Amino acid sequence: MADIVLVVREEPIAVVQLNRPEVLNALNAEVLEMVATRLEELDADDRIRCIVLTGNEKAFAAGADIKKQFIDASAISMLEDSLPGLWQRVARIKTPIVAAVSGFALGGGCELAMICDLIVCSETAQFGQPEVNLGIIPGAGGTQRLPRAVGKYVANDLILTGRFIKAEEARAIGLVSRIFPAATWLEDAKAVARTIAAKAPIAVRLAKELVNAAQSQPLESGLLHERKSFALLFATDDKREGVDAFVNKRKPTFTGR
Ligand code: COA
Repeated sequence: MADIVLVVREEPIAVVQLNRPEVLNALNAEVLEMVATRLEELDADDRIRCIVLTGNEKAFAAGADIKKQFIDASAISMLEDSLPGLWQRVARIKTPIVAAVSGFALGGGCELAMICDLIVCSETAQFGQPEVNLGIIPGAGGTQRLPRAVGKYVANDLILTGRFIKAEEARAIGLVSRIFPAATWLEDAKAVARTIAAKAPIAVRLAKELVNAAQSQPLESGLLHERKSFALLFATDDKREGVDAFVNKRKPTFTGR
């Protein structure tokens, strides 16, 4: 049986790929457990400085595995489900994660992309939160992360209608930052990851943490948190290296120290 999640290391980046093409990478506990475990392994490895999370050309992920997760589920079984803990494990990864979307990113697929730090996509991408068509609602952060990303009214236009949007609209509303050609989307996404991976790792991790905090913290505490992190970076070798490289007109080499 093929692995349901594949990892390709191309240090300093790694690509984590959902691999259930026969169901458009539908997500269940087994897949999410594997995604969380693989991401944690890469997170613990200093040689990996940025991760690309992706699917295949046809689908990033078409949502929760409707056939496995929903048919026999009850309110109690859903309350006791392991899924929330698995989503939290993904959200706790410190290494930056670029979601590279081609094809469908629907329901839990869109929510998985939104847990990542930025979303880039192929011109073929389609995003949506179609849970309302099944008589349910997004259950892995969609009602919280989508309005924080695109605002209340656009979020409701997606969540209450269940409609799909294409790459251009996703970029226009601020869900996606860059759209790449269908022939090169994954290589282009990896190039974005390599750019991030070339920066000072401690600075990148702190910036990720602070941008995430901006989604939940009041401005004053976010600013305080930022100020302390900013000062902390002045204790790093990488700050000395970055400033010295600028002053001496050379390329910096960051060590993560
Ligand atoms: N869960 C389980 N299986 C899924 C799935 C999901 N979320 N999404 C797709 N699949 C399966 C299909 O059942 C089909 O399997 P089959 O060949 O055994 O019938 C296979 O993946 C291919 O999907 P199909 O529907 O034939 O492809 P399509 O190109 O015609 O349509 C979609 C693609 C994404 C529009 C359609 O599959 C869809 O609407 N999926 C559900 C999306 C959704 O509601 N997600 C949120 C869940 S909370």
